[in-house]
Amino acid sequence: MTLHQHDLTLRPITGPDELDLFNSLPYVLNDELGSDLAAGRRRPEWLWLALRGDRVVARAGWWSRPGDEHALLMDIFDIDGDVDDGVRLLKAALPAVVPAGAIPPEYGRFLPADWRNRQHTRQAVNDRMGALERVGAKLFVERLRLEWRPGTPIPELSGRLVFRPVRNAGELIELMTLVLDGTLDAHSRADLTRMTARQAAQEQYQNELERYASPHDWWRIATLPDGEPVGFVIPAHNGYNPIIAYLAVVPAHRGHGYIHDILAMGTSLLAAQNVPRIRAATDVGNTPMAAAFARAGYVTIQRQIDMTWR
Ligand SMILES: CC(C)(COP(=O)(O)OP(=O)(O)OC[C@H]1O[C@@H](n2cnc3c(N)ncnc32)[C@H](O)[C@@H]1OP(=O)(O)O)[C@@H](O)C(=O)NCCC(=O)NCCS
Repeated sequence: MTLHQHDLTLRPITGPDELDLFNSLPYVLNDELGSDLAAGRRRPEWLWLALRGDRVVARAGWWSRPGDEHALLMDIFDIDGDVDDGVRLLKAALPAVVPAGAIPPEYGRFLPADWRNRQHTRQAVNDRMGALERVGAKLFVERLRLEWRPGTPIPELSGRLVFRPVRNAGELIELMTLVLDGTLDAHSRADLTRMTARQAAQEQYQNELERYASPHDWWRIATLPDGEPVGFVIPAHNGYNPIIAYLAVVPAHRGHGYIHDILAMGTSLLAAQNVPRIRAATDVGNTPMAAAFARAGYVTIQRQIDMTWR
């Protein structure tokens, strides 16, 4: 599908041979696009260009897990010049990528941790967000992208908790249901406006945790010495990086600093695999979680802005 408007050509790339053209605008994900295409995480028809002659003036790209029918995330959007060209690209690409009547998938953008202090970066963020707002998206949340590096000391466990593997999906889903109560995480809070806590927990288990190809026997439940569950940590590998996929403390045990032990356990489990790094993310507004990551030696490598059409 190719559209011509205002001397602008709007079309998806023809295939992997046009990745260099698509990558003529810089972004941290450019290096992954070739392997993503090969692995079925991206499709040429999800990588859209706005061209003036040979020059890419805007581009947009979507991602999914291999085998997914529809795109799960819009994770590339760049404008090099006129914001109106970015809007024209979105107006052409969205109806082609998103099934009729469906809500477009979330948009996510990685940014330097200090993006607000960089004049040029800040302007580019404003331009992209402005273009996305003109096609109906709204700011949803800003997140911290965090990294632990080998050699960073892992805080010693306080000895107050006992850790054991997860026995079955049921007990983990039960705990995942409980921890949604009072959560500060924006995605979880949005889920709770649309479904019950149990449904949200089940969905996250099935759509995310269960699918990690890394060993599920890395997963740990934290209990008091008498066996009462306090929380859990899900270390995993997401196909790109070792990650702390999820961790939480049940409401009855919050405020005692147990998260420090739970995060230390998850970190040491992955560190024992000699991983080159551990990635994690949390909302800027999830201050107890952000503080726990900082205390455990995780550094903020980037920020992320998420926008949604909900
Ligand atoms: C974030 C979380 C793990 C913190 O666990 P925790 O063991 O209670 O953390 P801390 O004991 O270090 O809490 C530090 C402070 O934050 C407060 N706090 C913790 N969780 C809170 C919450 N959800 N809402 C409001 N305040 C909270 C504590 O009461 C404590 O306050 P105080 O210093 O005045 O006593 C826990 O709130 C949780 O499980 N949240 C839901 C799941 C989640 O967000 N996971 C992280 C996803 S990235």
